[in-house]
Amino acid sequence: MEDKKIVFIASECQPFFASGGLGDVIGSLPQKIASASEASVSVLLPLYSKINPVWRNKLLYVGQMTVQLAWRKQYCGIFKYESKGVTYYFLDNEYYFKRSNFYGYFDDGERFAFFAKASLDAILFLELKPNIVHCHDWQTGLVPVYRRTHYGDNPVFTRTKFVFTIHNIEYQGIFSNDLDVLEDTFGISHFDSHLLEYKGSSNIMKGAMETSHIVTTVSPTYAKEILSPEYAHGLEHEVERVKHKLVGILNGIDKHFYSPSKDRALFVNYNQKSVENKVENKVELQKMLNLPVDKTIPLIGMVSRLVSHKGLDLVKGMMEELLVEKVQIVMLGTGDIHFEGYFKDLENKFGSKLRVIIAYNPDLSRKIYGASDIFLMPSKSEPCGLAQMIASRYGTVPIVRETGGLADSIKDFNLENGNGYTFAEYSPSALLSTVKRALSDYQDQDGWMKKVKTVMEVDFGWTKSAKEYLKMYEQVLKQ
Ligand code: GLC
Repeated sequence: MEDKKIVFIASECQPFFASGGLGDVIGSLPQKIASASEASVSVLLPLYSKINPVWRNKLLYVGQMTVQLAWRKQYCGIFKYESKGVTYYFLDNEYYFKRSNFYGYFDDGERFAFFAKASLDAILFLELKPNIVHCHDWQTGLVPVYRRTHYGDNPVFTRTKFVFTIHNIEYQGIFSNDLDVLEDTFGISHFDSHLLEYKGSSNIMKGAMETSHIVTTVSPTYAKEILSPEYAHGLEHEVERVKHKLVGILNGIDKHFYSPSKDRALFVNYNQKSVENKVENKVELQKMLNLPVDKTIPLIGMVSRLVSHKGLDLVKGMMEELLVEKVQIVMLGTGDIHFEGYFKDLENKFGSKLRVIIAYNPDLSRKIYGASDIFLMPSKSEPCGLAQMIASRYGTVPIVRETGGLADSIKDFNLENGNGYTFAEYSPSALLSTVKRALSDYQDQDGWMKKVKTVMEVDFGWTKSAKEYLKMYEQVLKQ
């Protein structure tokens, strides 16, 4: 990718602000693309007031523009920060982004329409002249749509290719299809409304799939799964329509950040050679959470949103039976009230075996990755999933259901090059028997330590995936 210019546009990016896996990916993929190629790489982001003040103070003011969104003329400041070969641009408008959360407002459609429009204007203002514009999830889905409807004759974009990545098809950005609302909120005319129209609503993800040159998902298996209604959350017809331009590329993780030999969140650091020290993390976590201290009890960890599609129904369906075993279980996450309540109640009943922490806590999550022997991720669907990779890096053996990125990253120990435990059937009994298989293997400590080392050896870094993205960019540029 010599002399190529790539612009990423996304709504989250570590370490500035993130609420999930998208933030991890945008925090590491652009840097990897920059270091693996000659390309110049920029990332466009909203300047949320939620940005950590440490980072806010490092931003440099670049300039300001007026962005036209339908009849509104809005201020947009541009700030920048450079790091590891990537220039990050932050688009500022307090009316839209001075909020206590990232998403979940009545005007999310307008907020991210503004961001999309401002991003295209910023590309012109900053003279970035990109060959590739790579957008992520529905919050940036109007970028390729506006490029078609509002910037069609702008010579800067004539040869630019637009790539759209689906991190999770569940969240599509669905709004009213009332033509006047479309015009008033998004500035999309009656004439162009068909680009967004889907099943009687305006669907931003559909518009992005329609108007991008390439659509990607974050694992090859998920790219196939979303062709079926079971996984597509209603978008299956559109997925079918764009099948010819759909590819799946598995995410990686930032190996420097997620590193048991350096991670300051851990009680004791270790690597493959000193993996026998990992157990000290279990002891310290047991103390911290007031669980019986015992090195020989297998500790099962779970760090997850407590929602149905993460497989919580299965966990709920087998938990009481599992708690009969010699085992300790630590769960961390927030989510559906009924799951939070159910597991908290169970904690009262099984106080010496189960800890349930209802919180989003990155520091504690890494303590759990470090301390656990087994990591549970029985998702119903999983576009990619990063936790199974992080757990592996920390020598915590994953148990996953064979879906999406879980199927693409973890193979059962019964198979050649196995690196975890997997099951296919979406049932509590299938999960329970897989967990029991792992618990029984755990009894043979020598065999278990070999498994731990095997799991730690798998390279889940970005190198391979970044190469695949670069190859895909080259291919789309030839079209
Ligand atoms: C979404 C998906 C998750 C994926 C992440 C990063 O959060 O649900 O599976 O790992 O995006 O692509």
